Amino acid sequence: MTNLINKLLTRKNLLKLMMIIMLSSVLKMFMDLLTAANSREDEKNRHVKIPLNLPDGVHFFDQVIITKKGKTLTVLSSICPHLGCRIRSFQDDRLVCPCHGSQYSAEGKLIKGPSRNDLTILAYYFDEKEGKIVVDTKKSVI
Ligand code: FES
Repeated sequence: MTNLINKLLTRKNLLKLMMIIMLSSVLKMFMDLLTAANSREDEKNRHVKIPLNLPDGVHFFDQVIITKKGKTLTVLSSICPHLGCRIRSFQDDRLVCPCHGSQYSAEGKLIKGPSRNDLTILAYYFDEKEGKIVVDTKKSVI
């Protein structure tokens, strides 16, 4: 048994073990930095600011779709609940997903699949000082 331990604990094997431990520590530090950078970027992109003076109609803002009819606003995520494609099209009174053709009303209600869910309604507030609608793209209503 002692012979086996002595064989395994050669200087070469100890150096290999130390290298593995050092590399795994460096890799963990790198992954932590990457995760922190991603979460900072996510937080930066979380709130979308949109001008208050939108005309009536359907408006696309990257992650957000806003339908305005008079004083009524519907603020939706543009991410299709089927497989996550971005919806950027409004045809024949329907929001249409470019990937597999799911269709939704301007208020985000599912009209035609393959999706099985409505679009997500997003939380927002009015920033009167800046004259903007501020949409929280990570917070749904309901
Ligand atoms: S991702 Fe929109 S229909 Fe499939």
